[in-house]
Amino acid sequence: MPSSDIFDIIHNRRSIRKFTDQPVTEEVLEKILEAGFRAPFATQLCSVVYTRKPEIMKKLRRLGVYPTTKVLMIFLIDVRRLEKIMHQRGHAYNQDDGMTLWLGVQDVSLVVENLILAAEALGLGSVLLGNAPLNADLLCQVLKIPKRVYPVVGLCLGYPDPTEETEIRPRFALKHSAFEDSYHDLSESEIREAMQIMDEGYLAQDYYVRLGAKIPLRTGKDDISLDEYSWCEHISRKYCQGRWTEEPLVAIIRKHGFRDL
Ligand SMILES: Cc1cc2nc3c(=O)[nH]c(=O)nc-3n(C[C@H](O)[C@H](O)[C@H](O)COP(=O)(O)O)c2cc1C
Repeated sequence: MPSSDIFDIIHNRRSIRKFTDQPVTEEVLEKILEAGFRAPFATQLCSVVYTRKPEIMKKLRRLGVYPTTKVLMIFLIDVRRLEKIMHQRGHAYNQDDGMTLWLGVQDVSLVVENLILAAEALGLGSVLLGNAPLNADLLCQVLKIPKRVYPVVGLCLGYPDPTEETEIRPRFALKHSAFEDSYHDLSESEIREAMQIMDEGYLAQDYYVRLGAKIPLRTGKDDISLDEYSWCEHISRKYCQGRWTEEPLVAIIRKHGFRDL
């Protein structure tokens, strides 16, 4: 049941990857978009392109778009609009693109989370798609996104299919991620405790067993069975085997008009 209590919404949210046939109306879309864009901003660098058309989503399957998604949103850093405003004011852009993009990620992130929570409050569910930046060439071609506008993240939206089993996924404990007054460099035993919380949490939910998949090691050698495989091994495998794409992200970003990176 949708709730209007912000803490209920935050603590009950989980990623949704299977949606019912119920369409998302214009009115609902407008309401969640308005809520998204009420987020705090540094520069208002966020824009979004969204679609309800399955044929467009099909062209973007490579992003991992879930087949029952009702709305696909691609959130963008829009430096082009900023430059148009500056042009109107008689100024030329002269700023560090690295910092501008960083501020863009900040602006986009806040819009996205506001929008996700607003959608939850209206009974919708969602899942983010993180590989949008690496698929900028395809996204920009299909969605007619010009130079100086760069995709940050995708979002699949719709009404949750009740046949999908979902659970609240574990998180690091606050003592391992929120530090008062100064950074706390976790000791070996604290790291092990943080890992145990995550691993036991995922194992208790049989997460990877139900998924039926592990990230394969490029060495081909793998001593960990699916029922022992958990989040810490998973996240380590994601980051220990080299780049995910042949072209590094910075090279792709440069092609899209951010040449001084
Ligand atoms: C930036 C970002 C990118 C993500 N990309 C994907 C993705 O490509 N595919 C996917 O199924 N889930 C993706 N997720 C969802 C995460 O897997 C999910 O949030 C995480 O496992 C925690 O689960 P929860 O959202 O149910 O709490 C992404 C989440 C974030 C924040």
